[in-house]
Amino acid sequence: MSKAVVIAVDGPGGAGKGELTQRLARDLGFALLDSGAIYRVLGYAARKAGLALFDEDSLVQEAQVLNLRFETTERGVRVMLGDEDVTSAIRTEEAGVNASKVAQFPAVRQALLQRQRAFRKEPGLVADGRDMGTVVFPDAPVKIFLDARAEVRAQRRVKQLEAAGKKADYATVLSEIKDRDERDRNRKVAPLVPAKDAVVLDSSDLGIEEVYAKARALVREKTSL
Ligand code: C5P
Repeated sequence: MSKAVVIAVDGPGGAGKGELTQRLARDLGFALLDSGAIYRVLGYAARKAGLALFDEDSLVQEAQVLNLRFETTERGVRVMLGDEDVTSAIRTEEAGVNASKVAQFPAVRQALLQRQRAFRKEPGLVADGRDMGTVVFPDAPVKIFLDARAEVRAQRRVKQLEAAGKKADYATVLSEIKDRDERDRNRKVAPLVPAKDAVVLDSSDLGIEEVYAKARALVREKTSL
């Protein structure tokens, strides 16, 4: 297995992991693993195949043959499922909920483990998810758990949706965020918890620049990069 440096960034949705990890990867010249996108694509593929999202055996089979690719383009990363560009289709609220449903099953997670570990290459990897520091890359030298209050995450999400020209209701978004948190934190396998050796950053009252500066300082302290 590759011993390349891994920066594991875990935490709930809406805490700012996406922005932070993209920026760290760009600045360090590292690869980026968006593990949530893998669960999102699996949920999407399962729906498309007409599978029930509680049918663990069929979901495992789907996970094993999932023809998923991340393509880097000038306009960012394109997520492909076979020949279909699913980049926007997997970003809906429904796709997030479906992802957290399929992600509950231990055998599904197991089936996706090697696929995630294969992203670890020189000079290094920034990994964004829920269990990067606890399960997928337990030996990562840098582990960050980026948290934020549910209310703040809901406000950020509403802003994002509005900026994308979509209708958003704060109370509905907040309740969906709380439901998803509950499912992610309480599942039996790979629950959303900070690794014992993770540094917890709360982004509720911090801007992206401050979060980035803290994370970057931590990377320097742990890896001298
Ligand atoms: O991060 P994102 O919102 O794209 O993740 C969607 C869902 O996928 C999460 O709510 C979580 O249930 C699941 N997930 C996971 N483990 C990961 C990444 C995502 O269980 N490493």
